[in-house]
Amino acid sequence: MDAPGSTGVPGKDIGSFLADVVSGLGREQKQLPCKYFYDERGSQLFVAISGLEEYYLTRTETALIEAHGEEIADLIGPGASLIEYGCGSLVKTRLLLDALDNPYVFVPIDISEKHLRRSVEALDQDYPALRVLPVVADFTHPVPLPDTTVNGGNKKVVFFPGSTIGNFDHQEAAKFLGTVAETVGVGGGLLIGVDMKKDEQILLRAYDDADGVTARFNLNLIERINRELGGDFDASAFRHEARYNQKQGRIEMHLVSRREQTAQASGHSFRFRKGESIHTENSYKYHAEEFQALAAGQGFCPVRIWIDDKNLFSIHYLTRD
Ligand code: AVI
Repeated sequence: MDAPGSTGVPGKDIGSFLADVVSGLGREQKQLPCKYFYDERGSQLFVAISGLEEYYLTRTETALIEAHGEEIADLIGPGASLIEYGCGSLVKTRLLLDALDNPYVFVPIDISEKHLRRSVEALDQDYPALRVLPVVADFTHPVPLPDTTVNGGNKKVVFFPGSTIGNFDHQEAAKFLGTVAETVGVGGGLLIGVDMKKDEQILLRAYDDADGVTARFNLNLIERINRELGGDFDASAFRHEARYNQKQGRIEMHLVSRREQTAQASGHSFRFRKGESIHTENSYKYHAEEFQALAAGQGFCPVRIWIDDKNLFSIHYLTRD
């Protein structure tokens, strides 16, 4: 049930939100960055998505950590510094912390201070012996971390669950993995959840559920423009669409204009043709070897991979050589 982290402190990012809306909706293929999904309402909707029957990702990954926690802990070893990028409800983190042998410190990193504070408060109560050092930062850029080394060097392990890596394109994902490699250093590790390529229908259902929760999550972007940028978009004039792009190996989410229309926000005007879409998200899927090759390019050696028996989801443990 982890939300992937939030950019969404309403009011805080208005300048960049407006700039991104103006440039994204000015393109030939209109687009909006998926990071803007996660305001308060979007984060709630994402939690609802995580519990959907069709959205197998969260429960499959959680079950894998539950089933293999001991083995994961053995590979990571005692006294590790655990660093999590983008922290949500921490359900999976707790499972990991329960399994780990005497973790030295836990460093959750999230862009939203409010979000981070909420998550960490509960953790402090339940793990009184654990040192928790939250860092407010955008983890897509190198993050200066507090000194987590003991006596000149305990192992640093980054935990990046939820297949959030899938929301980066391949180039961004490689850059991100390079940043992680720098952060953990030689001998450090990466435990990462990665959604797998599979039957297209399973993927399409996961991103277009019968109750329309994912549709509301997508349409919340339009409503966010209205709320935060004083827009006059008619959300009912757009519909949610999930597409599988076979060539790119990714699910795409779009908001399709139901009619020809013009909308305004903060003094800017945007025209839509009937059937024209705003591309709002990519969610890349990986075969196990594809992901290992991507990580190898950034100095990570595959150590172990856990996959559920329906071949839906993978968790990789890799170390930096
Ligand atoms: C956060 N991220 C991994 C989710 C995904 O599956 O790409 C976001 C999401 N979009 C639609 N449903 C869930």
